[in-house]
Amino acid sequence: MKYFPLLLLVLLGCRETPRVDYEAQKSASFPTAAIAGPHPLATQTGLEILRRGGNAIDAAVAMQLTMAVVFPRAGNIGGGGFLVYRPAQGEPVTLDYREIAPAAAGRDMYLDSLGDVTDGLSTRGHLAVGVPGTVAGIVAMHERFGSLPWAELVQPAIDFARDGYRLSESEIGRLKRYHADFAEFNESTPFSDSSMVAGTQVQQPDLAATLTRIQAEGHAGFYEGETADLIVAEMESGGGLITREDLRNYEAKWKAPITKDYRDYRLISMPPSSSGGIALAQMVEMVEPYPLDDYGFQSVRSVQVIAEAMRRAYADRAEYLGDADFYPVPVDSLLSDDYLKARMSDFRWDSAGTSDNIAAGQVAMKENFETTHISIVDSLGNAVSITTTLNGNFGSKVMVDGGGFFLNNEMDDFSAKPGVPNMFGLVGKEANAIQPGKRMLSSMTPTIVEKDGNLFMVLGAPGGSTIITAVLQTFLNVAEYGMTLPEAVDAPRFHHQWLPDEILYEKDALGGGVLDSLQELGYTFREVNSMAVIKAVQVLPDGSLQAAADPRNPDDDVEGY
Ligand code: GLY
Repeated sequence: MKYFPLLLLVLLGCRETPRVDYEAQKSASFPTAAIAGPHPLATQTGLEILRRGGNAIDAAVAMQLTMAVVFPRAGNIGGGGFLVYRPAQGEPVTLDYREIAPAAAGRDMYLDSLGDVTDGLSTRGHLAVGVPGTVAGIVAMHERFGSLPWAELVQPAIDFARDGYRLSESEIGRLKRYHADFAEFNESTPFSDSSMVAGTQVQQPDLAATLTRIQAEGHAGFYEGETADLIVAEMESGGGLITREDLRNYEAKWKAPITKDYRDYRLISMPPSSSGGIALAQMVEMVEPYPLDDYGFQSVRSVQVIAEAMRRAYADRAEYLGDADFYPVPVDSLLSDDYLKARMSDFRWDSAGTSDNIAAGQVAMKENFETTHISIVDSLGNAVSITTTLNGNFGSKVMVDGGGFFLNNEMDDFSAKPGVPNMFGLVGKEANAIQPGKRMLSSMTPTIVEKDGNLFMVLGAPGGSTIITAVLQTFLNVAEYGMTLPEAVDAPRFHHQWLPDEILYEKDALGGGVLDSLQELGYTFREVNSMAVIKAVQVLPDGSLQAAADPRNPDDDVEGY
C-alpha cells in the first residue's frame, strides 16, 4: 500500500487492507495462461483447450457451452451475453449477444388494465423470455477469432450432457429451492428429482441432442430446424411470444468498446446494451480527482466519494441508458470530462447527498441473481472477458421440452413502467422501454484494463445491479489501495444504485466505526449477504498471471499453466 500520513489515516477512520483467507485453489499464479471462471468443470475444459493449442476465444467457446450443461442455473444457450476481447495484436472489440424483445412484444405488455405492473409476469414463465443470443454470439466470436475447429470445441459439452456430471453440495442446495418452480412450468426436467443429493450423476440427453445439432450446423443448429421448432412449440404451449421469424432474425453485433483513461490505466468495457461500461467510466472519472489512496480503503472519505459517484452514475443510467439502436444514448456527453466534473460539483463532505436532489444530469433485490463470468489470458496475450446470463437463477424456469435447456427471463431487465423497479430494484424510463427487436439494458460489465498501454487486468462478475460497482471496487482496490488481486476480489464491498437511496454493504465492510460515521452524515445502510462474484486475471510485473476467483461462490475456480 502506498505511503500516507498516520494522522490522516486515524482521522478518516482508515482500515487495514483485508487479508486473503480463502482456499489456495481460488487464487494462483501461472507463467503462461490463466482462466478464472464459475465452475471447475468449465475452467478445466477451458484449460484443456488452451493446452491443445487453442486460443482464449476457443477456450471461451468451449467453456460457455460446458457451463450450459454443468451450471444450468446461469450457464446457458437460452440466454445472452457480452464479450470484451483484447487481441494481443490489434484493437479491442466487443460482441453484443444480448437477448432481444420478440416482434410481438409491446411497451405495456406487463401492465394490467389499471396500468400497474403485473407481479411476476416479466420474471417467471413464457412471457418473460427474450429471444436468446448466446449461440449466435459463440458462433460469431469463433468465426472471427477462433483457431480450433468448431466441432472440437462443442464436443466437451456434448460429453458432459450425454455421460453426465456430478452435482456439488452447493448446486443441490440451489436446485432444491427451485423444484416447485420447475414443476409449475415443466412436466419434468433432469433437475426435478427431489431425491438428488451431492454426487448424484445427472445426464441430459435432450440437451446433448441440441448441442449435437449446434455442433453440426452452428448458428442454424439453434435458430432454425429442430431446435427452433422445439422453442416455438414451447412458447405456444405456455403463451410465450417467440416465433420462428424472431429466431431466424436474431444477430449478434460487433461494437466498439467504451474506453476511459484513469491515471496510468485505460479501462475497456461494454457499450450499450450494457450500462456497465458507461457507468464504470463515469464513476472512475468522478472519483479520479480525489486521493483515494491517501484516504485509505473504506475510510469515511473513500466510501463517501465512491458512493456519491455511484449514486450519480446510476441516476444517469435510469434516465439515459438503453439499446442505442433504439434510443439516442448520449454516450459522448455522459463520458465527457466536463460533464462528470460538474456532476460532482454539488458533493459535500459534511452531509450525505440525497437521491431526490440528485436527478439525472442535464444532458431491492427480490430474487437471487445468477450470471456467469469468465476471464481468460492465453499464451499469446489474447484477453477475453465474457459475462453471460439467464437473468434469474434458471431464468424463466421454463425448460424447452425436448430441447433440454432453460430459457432466460431477461425481459425483466426492460423498464416495464417508468419508475417501477425491476427485480434488482433498478428503475428506468423511455430509454429502456420495451420495443420489438430491442435489447434490454444490462448491468453486465466484462472489462479489460491496460496499464501504460499493456494488458493489466481482465475482470467481470455476475451479480445484477451490483456488478458495475464490484468491478469498480476491485479495480480501485488494486490501482488505489495497493491490494493484490486475491485481496482485491475478497475484500468486502458496498453498493449504491441511486434508488433505493441506501448503501448496501457486506457484513465485513465499513468496520472500525466507518459505518457509524457515515450514518451520522445522513447515509442509510442495509446489510446484505453477498454481492457480485468477481473472476479476474492480472498480469504481474514479471509477466506471469495471477488468477483469482471469488470466495463468495463456492464453485468458482481458477486454472492455468
Ligand atoms: N440480467 C442482469 C443484467 O444483465 O444486468
